Amino acid sequence: MITLNVNGKAHQYDDDENMPILWALRDILKYTGTKYGCGKGLCGACTVHLNGQPIRSCATPVSAVGDQKITTIEGLSEKGDHPVQQAWQALNVPQCGYCQSGQIMSAVALLENNPKPDDEQIDMAMSGNICRCGTYERIRKAIHLASD
Ligand code: FES
Repeated sequence: MITLNVNGKAHQYDDDENMPILWALRDILKYTGTKYGCGKGLCGACTVHLNGQPIRSCATPVSAVGDQKITTIEGLSEKGDHPVQQAWQALNVPQCGYCQSGQIMSAVALLENNPKPDDEQIDMAMSGNICRCGTYERIRKAIHLASD
Protein backbone atom coordinates (compact mmCIF):
# COMPACT_ATOMS: atom_id res chain seq x y z
CA MET A 1 0.00 0.00 0.00
CA ILE A 2 1.29 3.43 -1.00
CA THR A 3 -0.21 6.78 -0.08
CA LEU A 4 -0.16 8.92 -3.22
CA ASN A 5 -0.18 12.68 -2.63
CA VAL A 6 -2.03 14.17 -5.60
CA ASN A 7 -3.18 17.78 -5.77
CA GLY A 8 -2.92 18.09 -2.00
CA LYS A 9 -5.02 15.00 -1.27
CA ALA A 10 -3.87 11.64 0.09
CA HIS A 11 -4.99 8.59 -1.91
CA GLN A 12 -4.46 5.01 -0.76
CA TYR A 13 -3.04 2.97 -3.63
CA ASP A 14 -2.75 -0.81 -3.47
CA ASP A 15 -2.44 -1.69 -7.16
CA ASP A 16 0.67 -2.53 -9.21
CA GLU A 17 3.60 -0.36 -8.05
CA ASN A 18 5.33 -0.82 -11.41
CA MET A 19 2.42 0.83 -13.20
CA PRO A 20 3.26 4.21 -14.74
CA ILE A 21 1.83 6.96 -12.54
CA LEU A 22 -0.06 8.16 -15.66
CA TRP A 23 -2.40 5.16 -15.45
CA ALA A 24 -2.79 5.39 -11.68
CA LEU A 25 -3.81 9.04 -12.13
CA ARG A 26 -6.16 8.48 -15.06
CA ASP A 27 -7.69 5.05 -14.53
CA ILE A 28 -7.69 4.69 -10.77
CA LEU A 29 -7.80 8.21 -9.34
CA LYS A 30 -9.75 9.64 -12.34
CA TYR A 31 -7.53 12.67 -12.94
CA THR A 32 -8.15 12.43 -16.67
CA GLY A 33 -6.74 15.85 -17.59
CA THR A 34 -3.34 14.20 -17.96
CA LYS A 35 -3.14 12.64 -21.43
CA TYR A 36 -1.52 9.60 -23.02
CA GLY A 37 0.37 10.36 -26.20
CA CYS A 38 3.36 8.18 -27.00
CA GLY A 39 3.85 6.18 -23.80
CA LYS A 40 7.60 6.41 -24.30
CA GLY A 41 8.54 9.69 -22.64
CA LEU A 42 8.88 11.47 -25.99
CA CYS A 43 5.85 13.72 -26.54
CA GLY A 44 5.13 15.46 -23.22
CA ALA A 45 1.33 14.98 -23.32
CA CYS A 46 1.48 13.20 -19.96
CA THR A 47 3.47 15.90 -18.12
CA VAL A 48 2.67 16.38 -14.43
CA HIS A 49 4.72 17.92 -11.62
CA LEU A 50 6.64 15.91 -9.07
CA ASN A 51 7.61 18.25 -6.24
CA GLY A 52 7.06 21.16 -8.63
CA GLN A 53 9.25 19.83 -11.44
CA PRO A 54 7.85 18.48 -14.72
CA ILE A 55 8.02 14.71 -15.25
CA ARG A 56 6.73 12.33 -17.89
CA SER A 57 4.07 10.37 -16.04
CA CYS A 58 4.02 7.64 -18.72
CA ALA A 59 7.64 6.81 -17.95
CA THR A 60 7.55 7.11 -14.15
CA PRO A 61 6.37 4.12 -12.11
CA VAL A 62 4.24 4.55 -9.03
CA SER A 63 7.09 3.10 -6.94
CA ALA A 64 9.37 6.00 -7.97
CA VAL A 65 6.81 8.55 -6.81
CA GLY A 66 5.74 7.14 -3.45
CA ASP A 67 4.24 9.85 -1.27
CA GLN A 68 6.00 12.76 -2.99
CA LYS A 69 3.91 15.68 -4.14
CA ILE A 70 2.20 15.19 -7.51
CA THR A 71 0.34 18.03 -9.20
CA THR A 72 -1.84 17.47 -12.25
CA ILE A 73 -3.63 20.05 -14.41
CA GLU A 74 -6.64 19.67 -12.09
CA GLY A 75 -4.49 20.80 -9.17
CA LEU A 76 -3.20 24.04 -10.69
CA SER A 77 -6.26 26.07 -9.70
CA GLU A 78 -9.80 25.65 -8.37
CA LYS A 79 -11.55 27.16 -11.40
CA GLY A 80 -9.05 26.84 -14.23
CA ASP A 81 -7.85 30.37 -13.57
CA HIS A 82 -4.16 29.92 -12.89
CA PRO A 83 -2.33 32.82 -14.67
CA VAL A 84 -0.96 30.41 -17.27
CA GLN A 85 -4.44 28.97 -17.90
CA GLN A 86 -5.79 32.53 -18.20
CA ALA A 87 -3.10 33.38 -20.77
CA TRP A 88 -3.91 30.20 -22.71
CA GLN A 89 -7.59 31.20 -22.80
CA ALA A 90 -6.89 34.83 -23.68
CA LEU A 91 -4.82 33.82 -26.72
CA ASN A 92 -6.93 30.79 -27.74
CA VAL A 93 -3.83 28.63 -27.71
CA PRO A 94 -5.33 25.14 -28.21
CA GLN A 95 -6.40 23.79 -31.56
CA CYS A 96 -7.38 20.15 -30.96
CA GLY A 97 -6.28 20.60 -27.35
CA TYR A 98 -5.00 17.10 -26.72
CA CYS A 99 -1.43 18.03 -25.75
CA GLN A 100 -2.34 21.23 -23.93
CA SER A 101 -2.51 20.06 -20.34
CA GLY A 102 1.06 18.79 -20.73
CA GLN A 103 2.05 22.06 -22.41
CA ILE A 104 0.55 24.06 -19.53
CA MET A 105 2.25 21.94 -16.88
CA SER A 106 5.63 22.47 -18.57
CA ALA A 107 4.95 26.21 -18.93
CA VAL A 108 4.01 26.57 -15.25
CA ALA A 109 7.20 24.78 -14.20
CA LEU A 110 9.25 27.01 -16.51
CA LEU A 111 7.77 30.21 -15.05
CA GLU A 112 8.27 29.00 -11.49
CA ASN A 113 11.95 28.44 -12.25
CA ASN A 114 12.35 31.50 -14.49
CA PRO A 115 9.64 34.18 -14.18
CA LYS A 116 10.77 36.16 -17.26
CA PRO A 117 12.03 33.72 -19.90
CA ASP A 118 13.10 34.92 -23.36
CA ASP A 119 12.09 33.11 -26.56
CA GLU A 120 15.15 30.90 -26.54
CA GLN A 121 14.57 29.85 -22.93
CA ILE A 122 10.91 29.16 -23.68
CA ASP A 123 11.76 27.04 -26.71
CA MET A 124 14.33 25.09 -24.75
CA ALA A 125 12.01 24.45 -21.79
CA MET A 126 9.09 23.50 -24.04
CA SER A 127 11.05 21.43 -26.57
CA GLY A 128 9.90 18.15 -25.05
CA ASN A 129 6.23 18.97 -25.55
CA ILE A 130 5.08 18.10 -29.05
CA CYS A 131 1.96 19.66 -30.61
CA ARG A 132 0.70 18.08 -33.84
CA CYS A 133 -1.43 21.17 -34.54
CA GLY A 134 1.66 23.38 -34.40
CA THR A 135 0.44 25.83 -31.75
CA TYR A 136 4.01 26.67 -30.76
CA GLU A 137 3.81 30.35 -31.68
CA ARG A 138 0.71 30.89 -29.54
CA ILE A 139 2.26 28.89 -26.71
CA ARG A 140 5.28 31.19 -26.78
CA LYS A 141 3.06 34.29 -26.73
CA ALA A 142 0.94 32.90 -23.88
CA ILE A 143 4.02 32.22 -21.77
CA HIS A 144 5.16 35.81 -22.32
CA LEU A 145 1.66 37.05 -21.41
CA ALA A 146 1.61 34.96 -18.22
CA SER A 147 5.05 36.29 -17.29
CA ASP A 148 3.99 39.97 -17.52
FE1 FES B 1 4.33 10.41 -21.91
FE2 FES B 1 4.31 10.90 -24.55
S1 FES B 1 2.73 10.00 -23.30
S2 FES B 1 5.80 11.51 -23.09
